[in-house]
Amino acid sequence: MNRRSFFKAGSKVAMGAAVASQITINKAFAVPGEQILIDSKIESNHGHLLNIDAADVIVLLRKSQAVEGFVETISIQGESRHPHEITLNADQLLMIVLAEELSLASTAVSGHAHSVLVKMNVQ
Ligand SMILES: [Fe+2]
Repeated sequence: MNRRSFFKAGSKVAMGAAVASQITINKAFAVPGEQILIDSKIESNHGHLLNIDAADVIVLLRKSQAVEGFVETISIQGESRHPHEITLNADQLLMIVLAEELSLASTAVSGHAHSVLVKMNVQ
């Protein structure tokens, strides 16, 4: 089981791991008292969810620096009955880390696709 399928499992263990990774990333990168979150908005949403946190973004960015042509495909199915995916390349991961708003198009399924807005948010 890889990290992403681990999170998809939705178990209490997975939620605990997500919280732990968020705490770790905040200790490493945030000013004390701040939290680094990944906000996302899915246009015309019907149960889809982008489940990534700052730790995921940092891990993917590091991987992307080591692999030419790196692309990560991420499911946004959430609780919807049908899947969609988005892909992130090295430049897009860097945009997220630089707190720029990223607009992505999901794959098309059942005759539609979704725009997905992603932005790092420091609170
Ligand atoms: Fe959909």
